Amino acid sequence: MINVLFIGDVNGKPGRQALAALLPKLIKEKNIDFVIANGENSAGGFGITIKTFEELLHSGVDAVTLGNHIWDKKDVISILENDRRLIRPANLPEGNPGNGHAIFTIEKSGRKINIGVINLVGRVFMLAVDCPFKAADKVIKEISQNAPVIFVDIHAEATSEKQAMGFYLAGRVSGVFGTHTHVQTSDERILEGGTAFITDAGMTGPFDSVIGVKKEIIIRRFLTAAPEKFEIAEGNVRLNAVLTAVDEATGKASSIERLDIKYE
Ligand SMILES: [Fe+2]
Ligand SMILES: [Fe+2]
Repeated sequence: MINVLFIGDVNGKPGRQALAALLPKLIKEKNIDFVIANGENSAGGFGITIKTFEELLHSGVDAVTLGNHIWDKKDVISILENDRRLIRPANLPEGNPGNGHAIFTIEKSGRKINIGVINLVGRVFMLAVDCPFKAADKVIKEISQNAPVIFVDIHAEATSEKQAMGFYLAGRVSGVFGTHTHVQTSDERILEGGTAFITDAGMTGPFDSVIGVKKEIIIRRFLTAAPEKFEIAEGNVRLNAVLTAVDEATGKASSIERLDIKYE
């Protein structure tokens, strides 16, 4: 059995600091073998830089996924071209840099285990991109022989699209985890066929905010409809994640636990 932690969108410096402080302890306490985190908001809430990517890795993250904020910082291109640990949505149209999936090899009790990670982005109320369902089919077909354990980050706005993806991939992957809304849902469960699922893993960042941004700015924005620079909030920083146990031989998940840990 391997224990895998999936962390919801890491938001700005508060999110990165919470991760640095909490993740090493959590890995030890919960006997975690592999960590995936969504890093699309790791740089000031918008995109990812070399610095924030390295900070996530340094805190204990093994694989970093992205989402609609992928292009907010130009650093992302060189990271995608040079480091497979950063994974961009597999259903971006052809011609984009980087890869929509990666296979990681971990060692446990002297045995090598291959873990596949796939990133997808939804289409409902989001960018017009290729079909995430068909993209998932294609990648799973390509890697399932080599990686019995596969996790999918479906970064999407609509609950329905994420739930549909969960059922569509049930029995074919070890876990389907939603991201993007920054609000953790309480519907974690094991779908038929041994697929761990949650509609949204939540956010690792400041909760005294509107989805990570200073609440005063967002309220003003709703009241006036005038554009204003967004700023990352500060207080009530929490780490949101799901912890799942998977049989490395069959790829089937047996448990999923939701985590919402207070940092400061
Ligand atoms: Fe996000
Ligand atoms: Fe997003």
